[in-house]
Amino acid sequence: MKAYIDKLECSGCLSQEEFALLIENHTPELDEYLFEKSRALRQKYYGNDIYIRGLIEFTNYCKNDCFYCGIRKSNHNASRYRLTKQQILDCCEVGYSLGFRTFVLQGGEDESYTDEILADIIYSIKFLYPDCALTLSIGEKSYDSYKAFFDAGADRYLLRHETADCNHYQKLHPHTMSLENRKQCLYNLKKIGYQVGCGFMVGSPFQTAESLAKDLLFIHELQPQMVGIGPFIPHHDTPFASQAGGTLQQTLFLLGLIRLMIPNVLLPSTTALGTIHPQGREMGILAGANVVMPNLSPVDVRKKYLLYDNKICTGDEAAECRACLQKRMQSIGCSIVVDRGDYKSAE
Ligand code: SAM
Ligand code: FES
Repeated sequence: MKAYIDKLECSGCLSQEEFALLIENHTPELDEYLFEKSRALRQKYYGNDIYIRGLIEFTNYCKNDCFYCGIRKSNHNASRYRLTKQQILDCCEVGYSLGFRTFVLQGGEDESYTDEILADIIYSIKFLYPDCALTLSIGEKSYDSYKAFFDAGADRYLLRHETADCNHYQKLHPHTMSLENRKQCLYNLKKIGYQVGCGFMVGSPFQTAESLAKDLLFIHELQPQMVGIGPFIPHHDTPFASQAGGTLQQTLFLLGLIRLMIPNVLLPSTTALGTIHPQGREMGILAGANVVMPNLSPVDVRKKYLLYDNKICTGDEAAECRACLQKRMQSIGCSIVVDRGDYKSAE
């Protein structure tokens, strides 16, 4: 198995079969072998710097019905909210004073925010904070909408592909959604000029080593600047309420493989990882991640953006999250930097 890790490090990719074998058969010893390499690569490109992204969860209305997601349209127990432009700008103001230089606007697919309204919000954020990067994570839109947001000033876009296996995709989503459209969106975003992030949940229901291997091959094909992965965690009001969640070890192993495959990629150690283990985010960094995404949403709406059960940090003020993460990163020899945290191209 070590030979496959060496091969991945040298050539940047493996075959689907080789990836699947690694995913099925890794051991704690192999994990350590991988993490030494993935950490060294993170170090080479980003040193001990950890980039922060201020996450603003601006709406939990969604027209989609993804089976895994706590804010899916059919969850009538979800208490819905929308932030106004002023509330969003207030989050940015707090974030800027805390040293955030990237803001991420994330939400369900909420059509009450028209392209015009969103473009105005984007333009205003970039006008007020020209030294900051703005990331959008608002799902599938047309080419023209993506272009309008880019022209208004958005720099980056996160759209997890969720799974690169067609059959698996249909088991996670209603038939109104398709992997084909999801992928097309990612290619459109790239063409327009965004820094693009794809990704998937680890341990989602019906996932196999083969489907994970397909995820890795798709990431290799797309060559995104960012990859967002985190464990699947069940939400009590979804069809997947009684399914098992993804594991810490599998998530860490995949983070390490992704760092080896795209050494300079921006790789978050996610809140979901911190939810399944008290030191999950630190372990993610030690497996090769280099980004954390503390929450900047107003405290009174935090609990309402519940994608999965037991989500951490829903009661903390932004400043508390920022300070807590700084301490956590320092405990493993890293430090949070005041920086846009752009992708560094490979020399
Ligand atoms: N609507 C946008 C979209 O579709 O990209 C952004 C919001 S969506 C809630 C953000 C991500 O949350 C999804 O891409 C999914 O991978 C993740 N997510 C949703 N439900 C989850 C769960 N139960 N466990 C872990 N992650 C989940
Ligand atoms: Fe739309 Fe989850 S179903 S954000």
